Amino acid sequence: MPIKRLQISGVRNLQPLSLTPALGVNFIYGENGSGKSSLLEALYILATGKSFRHHLLKPVIQHDMDECVLFSEIDDNRLGNGRLGVRRSRSGDKAIRLNGEALHSQAEASSWLPVQIIEPNTFKLLSGSPQERRQFIDWGVFHVEHSFLDQWREFKKLLQQRNAVLKKQQPDWLDVWDKGFVKAANAVNESRKAYIERLLPVFQHTLSRLDANLDVELSFYPGWERTSNLIDILHKQRERDLQIGHTQSGPQRAELRIKVDKMNAADILSRGQQKAVVAALKLSQGVLFQQETERSTIYLVDDLASELDEKHRFALCQLLEDLKCQVFITSIEHNSISDHWKPKGCKMFHVEQGHVSDKTPLV
Ligand SMILES: Nc1ncnc2c1ncn2[C@@H]1O[C@H](COP(=O)(O)OP(=O)(O)OP(=O)(O)O)[C@@H](O)[C@H]1O
Ligand SMILES: [Mg+2]
Repeated sequence: MPIKRLQISGVRNLQPLSLTPALGVNFIYGENGSGKSSLLEALYILATGKSFRHHLLKPVIQHDMDECVLFSEIDDNRLGNGRLGVRRSRSGDKAIRLNGEALHSQAEASSWLPVQIIEPNTFKLLSGSPQERRQFIDWGVFHVEHSFLDQWREFKKLLQQRNAVLKKQQPDWLDVWDKGFVKAANAVNESRKAYIERLLPVFQHTLSRLDANLDVELSFYPGWERTSNLIDILHKQRERDLQIGHTQSGPQRAELRIKVDKMNAADILSRGQQKAVVAALKLSQGVLFQQETERSTIYLVDDLASELDEKHRFALCQLLEDLKCQVFITSIEHNSISDHWKPKGCKMFHVEQGHVSDKTPLV
């Protein structure tokens, strides 16, 4: 998967740059405000079309610039060589190109660059809305099984149509819509459920390596009570659905429940423990992805030191090294990690007032 070359311009305070990252671990260090997170943010936008720091892209575009342009050369052991470029403008225009051809959906670009981010706000995966956890599940299903995207789009279309019928108070139409809705819902649900079943043992193993004292239980809730058929539930809830104007049950309400001693992990665990659990979740997705596709994930680890003590930092680094994937990891001090951890072929980059320079020691 790794990125062989990366070019960035027009992102936050970063000077236009062209990097040749290591195919393994890249350490990025520099003072507060130098541009380290911005570098990871640019990579994340290239891979997902979104920033991990802001729901809009406008704040990411450099002051006084109209657009940002991101480009990467990718060497994927399954897909081959790819040149992926993205241009996002202040006015909202976007263009994505793969090997010189325009792409019309972000999904195809994302399939070339499966990235996972671990950053100081990462605990939101536990404490945020169920949507965050649905997105987590769907990342895994999408990257392993590309047909999932069509399943999901079909379901979403049917959900919108059903909700429109509910809003227009046309109960007679529901018999027609419900059949298709349930079929699409079951397809999405089966893919998610099967994925979580495969992920569970990998997660438990990963978590035990990261923190042997944490006992966390994951369970998947499909979005309706498992003991009943969705079609029966829709019938039962029809009156209420008509009153509120939307569908109460279905995969749009799915949830990944993350518990410690039968209580929500987010309500019980400390910040550092939450970060360890989220890191274990994200790393286990990378392990499963590798096992099932022979491709690897790119990990972006922003501010490794935040919330994690030395033992956890070291365990996380070890897990990343074992994954043998490309990693971009930031910290303030140049030696805070690299003194203890020297993975083979790693590179060091220093960021100073938006200027990124390669400081890999010559051996
Ligand atoms: N749109 C923008 N245009 C220009 N500069 C910006 C823009 N948005 C933010 N900045 C500046 O970019 C700089 C880099 O921020 P960034 O968050 O990448 O720093 P950092 O190295 O990760 O710092 P820290 O160690 O504190 O996390 C900040 O000084 C910020 O003020
Ligand atoms: Mg930062």
